[in-house]
Amino acid sequence: MDNNKITIAIDGFSSTGKSTIAKQLANQLGYVYVDSGAMYRAVTLYAMQNNLIGDAYFKEETLIEQLPTIDISFAFNKTLGFAEVFLNGVNVEKDIRTLEVSGFVSQVAAVPEVRKQLVDQQRKIGENKGVVMDGRDIGTVVFPNADLKLFMTASAETRAERRYNELIERGDEVDYQAVLKNVQERDYMDSNRKDSPLIKAKDAIEIDNSNMTIDEQFKVISNLVTKAISNA
Ligand code: DC
Repeated sequence: MDNNKITIAIDGFSSTGKSTIAKQLANQLGYVYVDSGAMYRAVTLYAMQNNLIGDAYFKEETLIEQLPTIDISFAFNKTLGFAEVFLNGVNVEKDIRTLEVSGFVSQVAAVPEVRKQLVDQQRKIGENKGVVMDGRDIGTVVFPNADLKLFMTASAETRAERRYNELIERGDEVDYQAVLKNVQERDYMDSNRKDSPLIKAKDAIEIDNSNMTIDEQFKVISNLVTKAISNA
């Protein structure tokens, strides 16, 4: 079976439910799951903690200089059933999900040097296949030869509602309109940046899940995975 391990790339706009599906798939297949967005969020958190980014400034050059000192790692949490992200040895899984980090992350993710460091690390994690990675450029840049590429979409309103419910469930005080604005701004920035913009890979299968339950999506995607494994 090991010979048939494949690489699964899941890309799409923010809050399209990529990570829910990716985690479920990885657990079912016994694969490693990598949330590449968490890595961009962790670098953003580092920049915020070190006063390198704020409402009116972004000290991009200093961030680039300090990149070699930023260590991002994952450790599987059995209780949660997925790998949590660590920034220089500190668990930041919760801290990277705030609306504040979401507000700055697209600026940090647009820096080519940041992308290069993270893409190198992502390729290393996936070099032996058996990986499900979600993000924006996984099927186009990180693993252009991935065995299965999915591109998830849903309306901005549906996605904002999902993210709003997630944040409220965590106990954050947020306003739906602010969440919707952030989703729309990130869509724009992620799709229009120069380096590795969010685009659907030519050979990716698009799944619009605006009106699909998780179970429905999982069924469709599981069938695609079975096919991809038998073709590998
Ligand atoms: O998936 P997410 O919303 O947690 O990702 C956070 C941000 O990171 C997103 O706005 C764009 C960026 N990102 C990226 O540029 N490339 C990736 N492979 C993953 C995320």
